[in-house]
Amino acid sequence: MAEEPAGSAPPVQSRIIKHFQSRSIEDQGSGWSDLWDTGNSDLWDRGAPSPALIDAIEQRQDLFNPLTSDGRRKKAFVPGCGKGYDVVMLALHGFDAYGLDISATGVSIAEEYASNEMIHAQTYNFGENEGSAQNPGKTYFIEADFFKRDWESKVFRSQDDKFDLIYDYTFLCALPPALRTRWAERMSELLGSGGQLVCLEFPLYKDPALPGPPWGLKGVHWDLLSRGGNGIDHIGEGDAIEDEPTLQNGKFIRTIYVNPPRSYPNGRGTDMLSVYSRK
Ligand SMILES: C[S@@+](CC[C@H](N)C(=O)[O-])C[C@H]1O[C@@H](n2cnc3c(N)ncnc32)[C@H](O)[C@@H]1O
Repeated sequence: MAEEPAGSAPPVQSRIIKHFQSRSIEDQGSGWSDLWDTGNSDLWDRGAPSPALIDAIEQRQDLFNPLTSDGRRKKAFVPGCGKGYDVVMLALHGFDAYGLDISATGVSIAEEYASNEMIHAQTYNFGENEGSAQNPGKTYFIEADFFKRDWESKVFRSQDDKFDLIYDYTFLCALPPALRTRWAERMSELLGSGGQLVCLEFPLYKDPALPGPPWGLKGVHWDLLSRGGNGIDHIGEGDAIEDEPTLQNGKFIRTIYVNPPRSYPNGRGTDMLSVYSRK
């Protein structure tokens, strides 16, 4: 999302914050659709898939092999997928990849992008080995609200059918803090046992008390997913608390927490890649 120099709020940032401040929790989704429909997606669009996610997928095949041991193709999911760059990249790496966005305009742009990119994939979809798609999966785009369940029957064939990989980048930070607990609940409903929730945590340099979007997220993912907090009350208590096992009442354990060597320039070397699995 739009960058913010420390200590001041430039016009772009103020505009997006104002756009959402006057809306109720129920109206946040229509706020995003309005931004798409009025041609404002450049406020957050990065124009390429995430280098940090590409490197994780390619370098940690122990966690991110797109096929199960019995040869089933795994399902990957990107909520709030925007133009679908990460969805396409995951499909090119062998997953059946599902992108979901509340905006009809966003979904139709993503579908068009995917139909070209899956045939003529640009090199930015691959890491330092400059690979190419060997056994690609398919892309699917869904226009729906992440917090509702009405779209799930289009994706899952049974109650046990869930996603094997979920990726969040600038979706949690786009939501008002009051929705954070519901975000974590939905993640636990949608991720299968043995699945991986990958979060590119951003922005971590912004004071979590300041208004968003983007909302500052330092400490928020761990609090919601591992501690079992609401992602608001204990934020800012410091990193040391994350090592305290007795505080971990959440539904997830964090297995990876690294500062990715490659990432989007606006992460400013501060963003973190975390991987969570279900307890
Ligand atoms: C900040 S943008 C990030 C988009 C994308 N992840 C990217 O990196 O370009 C947030 C996206 O979440 C979508 N969104 C917001 N609330 C949503 C909801 N409740 N359900 C599904 N999508 C939602 C918006 O339409 C928007 O495309």
